Amino acid sequence: MPADEIMTEQTTVTQTDARPVPTLPDAQTVISVKHWTDRLFSFRVTRPASLRFRSGEFVMIGLMGDPDPKTGKQKPLLRAYSIASPSWDDALEFYSIKVQDGPLTSKLQHIQPGDEIILRPKPVGTLVHDALLPGKRLWLFATGTGFAPFASLLRDPETYEKFDEIVMTHTVRDVAELEYGRQLIENLAKDDMMEELLGAENLAKIRYYPTTTREQSPKMGRITNLLQDGTVFRDLGIDGIHPETDRGMVCGSLDFNKDIKEVLEGFGLEEGANSDPKHYVVEKAFVG
Ligand code: A2P
Repeated sequence: MPADEIMTEQTTVTQTDARPVPTLPDAQTVISVKHWTDRLFSFRVTRPASLRFRSGEFVMIGLMGDPDPKTGKQKPLLRAYSIASPSWDDALEFYSIKVQDGPLTSKLQHIQPGDEIILRPKPVGTLVHDALLPGKRLWLFATGTGFAPFASLLRDPETYEKFDEIVMTHTVRDVAELEYGRQLIENLAKDDMMEELLGAENLAKIRYYPTTTREQSPKMGRITNLLQDGTVFRDLGIDGIHPETDRGMVCGSLDFNKDIKEVLEGFGLEEGANSDPKHYVVEKAFVG
């Protein structure tokens, strides 16, 4: 029987025990919100005590939709969001695009601390260490908000235990869209707690490779092209991608995922899954 049905007249509810009754099913409370550009924001929400997840997984989150004009009933409007925080964190972090006519993000972009969102506590996903065979070098390929699952994995000690080198590539349109990822990586070394948890030697394993496609920056171009023409390898002093040593995780738009899969398969890598670990894995970043 659910806890809220066993309340009897004998139950004393003192002021200090009293909590606001969640108005949404699976409600979690927004702790903080940060707007990075007019297209991007991140936010932190409370974590259900029972929620266990593997870094890199996603959950369904959302808000109540508008009332149906005929019945007045409201239905939850949910989308898959990668959890951007690591599995050891007390709170849950998400990184989102704002689509002005997007059914969910047109509303979600206005959340404020203290507001409630819906969070279904059933984490799933393929961007997890279990889906990859052991290797030496881990490539994390993101476009846009596809950085989110890697924000989780880069803060997880397991990532550094399993690999000697981690190459984080992030392709975005404009320089400002790199900022969430750039600051996150910079803060790993600056934050004493993170440095202690992950270790300075491990943090030195990260090679960050940001590229832009529509605004001038030190490295221009789509990562797919930069891999194919060998620019990435020349820049990083790496002798290519090989199935014996290299592993990949991919998170971006459908088109990006399709194109980079072809590039990786061209290097001889095969796609893995939780039940069948191989050389690389792919997840679609949430858009809309
Ligand atoms: P481009 O500007 O050339 O389209 P978006 O903001 O549209 O999700 O795109 C994020 C980044 O991903 C942009 O820099 C975009 O480059 C790049 N991108 C989009 N599609 C692909 C693709 N098929 N292959 C490689 N990069 C892509």
